[in-house]
Amino acid sequence: MPSMATGNNNNNNNQFVNRKNKIDQQRKSLPIASVEKRLVEEVRKNDTLIIVGETGSGKTTQLPQYLFNGGFCRDGGIIGITQPRRVAAVTVAKRVAEECGVELGQKVGYSIRFEDVTSMSTRIKYMTDGLLLREALLDPYLSRYSVIVVDEAHERTVQTDVLLGLLKDVQKKRSRSSNASNNDHVKSNNGALVKEENNGQTSSGFKQQLVKKLNPLKLIIMSASLDARGFSEYFSGAKAVHVQGRQFPVDILYTAQPETDCLDAALVTILQIHLDEGPGDILVFLSGQEEIESIESLVRENLKKLPEAKQKLLILPLFSSLPSEKQMKVFTPAAVGFRKVILATNIAETSVTIPGIKYVIDPGLVKVRSYSPDSGIESLIVVKTSKAQALQRSGRAGREGPGKCFRLYPESRFEGLDDSTVPEIKRCNLSNVILQLSALGVDDIIGFDFMEKPDRMAVIKSLELLYLLGALTDEKKLSDPIGHQMARLPLEPNDSKALILASQFGCLEEMLIVVSMLSVESIFYVPREKLEESRAVIKSFSSPDGDHLTLLNVYRACLEFLEKNKTENSNDKAEKNLRRWCKDNFINNRSLKHARDIYKQIRENVERMGLKISSCGDDTLQLRRCLAASYFLNAALKQPDGTFRVLANGQIAEVHPTSVLRRTKSECIIFYNLVQTTRNYVRNVTRIDYLWLAELAPQCYALKD
Ligand code: CDP
Ligand code: MG
Repeated sequence: MPSMATGNNNNNNNQFVNRKNKIDQQRKSLPIASVEKRLVEEVRKNDTLIIVGETGSGKTTQLPQYLFNGGFCRDGGIIGITQPRRVAAVTVAKRVAEECGVELGQKVGYSIRFEDVTSMSTRIKYMTDGLLLREALLDPYLSRYSVIVVDEAHERTVQTDVLLGLLKDVQKKRSRSSNASNNDHVKSNNGALVKEENNGQTSSGFKQQLVKKLNPLKLIIMSASLDARGFSEYFSGAKAVHVQGRQFPVDILYTAQPETDCLDAALVTILQIHLDEGPGDILVFLSGQEEIESIESLVRENLKKLPEAKQKLLILPLFSSLPSEKQMKVFTPAAVGFRKVILATNIAETSVTIPGIKYVIDPGLVKVRSYSPDSGIESLIVVKTSKAQALQRSGRAGREGPGKCFRLYPESRFEGLDDSTVPEIKRCNLSNVILQLSALGVDDIIGFDFMEKPDRMAVIKSLELLYLLGALTDEKKLSDPIGHQMARLPLEPNDSKALILASQFGCLEEMLIVVSMLSVESIFYVPREKLEESRAVIKSFSSPDGDHLTLLNVYRACLEFLEKNKTENSNDKAEKNLRRWCKDNFINNRSLKHARDIYKQIRENVERMGLKISSCGDDTLQLRRCLAASYFLNAALKQPDGTFRVLANGQIAEVHPTSVLRRTKSECIIFYNLVQTTRNYVRNVTRIDYLWLAELAPQCYALKD
């Protein structure tokens, strides 16, 4: 029926036009819109510019478009915008593609570890700061970029800090090259990514590529913290411009007493707001995926007990490993009569701005990396936020009108908070940074021009770790081939080493799976009320040898399931059934999906490196020996009281309750992570023979007798 079809089309067109109009209006009303011309002018005049503006003023989504329209991509150059978080890179790129009315991956794209959505025509490219660092390995002049915007610089993640140092250097090199006369061509280390001017063949048969005169690199540092001084000093007095924000008053409410159970307090507050307060969405800050998923099921349970009319609450999680179509859901307005409650990690503090938020619930905690140079062991710990973070969080409630922020702690505690957060470089294991910088030709880490120098002891310890892993030579240079191979893999040094060794141990197939499964948070998902039921189901995967092998079993079972359900040309159906299978087996479908993606990527990586991929089949002894040979620093011995003593530093820890080895009789284990809450826990644990340590890691352990 043609007439109906036309009607539908018209309808769609109208919807499309309406949405486009609405977006245009939103864009025009952003605080940054009134200074578009001035910003473009300032970027033209200054090679380095600092832009400071409140969260939500439009920095991340608008500035790249202004620069594009201002002609900064005219010579084919790309505007690169780095984000500390994957989620931000993805969601913002999607939004900007929509604003520009283009397909994602064309003019506007993003690139994050394990996912590249860009093409030859991409001119506005959002990416993680870590990814740009990796690109610098291949293209030391970052010659494809005309502008680089380092976004969220106030977060001061370790990757941002390294990037700032590197960019400063690239900028110098590029301006030298642009000042050189036209005849002085600059030769690049890797011609593949640079513009060719002359592609004559050299005698060795390699294409010799000479680089066209490079334009100076425009560098923009964007930050939500109002203090731009630090950045300005670091960049030799670079100019800073402030974008006026718009902030409505936010009522701050505290609890009378400290809360003992944060999850419970958050749950009660969500329900209270939902039942007693006027319309407006709720944003809750939680420390990680696990807390988010616990609260999600608690709220669902409690909602069911309410009268039907009061059940109109839409619960939306937001964390890094969430598939991106789910991440985007937080930006869509809820249906009429519904209230959204967004359960987010720190992502929502400044990285992404969600429209419609009127209520913020802030338990005052954040998960951070913590490193003790004494032990050389890094752990994830949950700590109190700084004052600056608490203010950022409450600010999220006052973007579109007056709002309320419920801090789940007493007012007296706020006064005692640190003013601002310590940069991550001061509290993390630096071995990855050292590896990356060494690969970029920076051998003297202590002498590197960091905005804030890392601790000397932490540097020494991290160097020692790399040395023990065989990545560095006695002269602190990258070893060949191990160090170079490790630097090429987008993983932590320990994991890279495990893969390299596994090819020698004949178990690379299995190690690829294990490393991928360890890269995601919590493969098993157990709702509180189903604790007992889940135990029995999960047991069917569990290996008496430990969690690494249990994860391997889960992955293999998943492959087997997909194989069995494979019908002709219907992968979708198998995937759909897999979701059901995951649910029945208390497996976190999103985490498993993510692990499968990671597996594919790192498999490609090791294939390209020429590592031999073979399988040890059911001979998992080899796999355990390989784990011992790679994670030897994370070895622990059993104490008479059943706890474990970490050999590297004497720290006492318990096996985490979620581990299959929680009641193990084994004398010696290796673990993947150490988490500190009220107690020390080791997670992802595997049983080993302590004699293996002396045999496989003699650089670290010797037999006394
Ligand atoms: O970077 P900054 O915090 O200054 O702001 P932004 O991220 O550019 O956000 C500008 C506006 O775009 C905000 O009002 C957001 O709510 C909106 N936005 C959106 O509606 N959907 C997205 N996926 C991203 C941003
Ligand atoms: Mg932003």
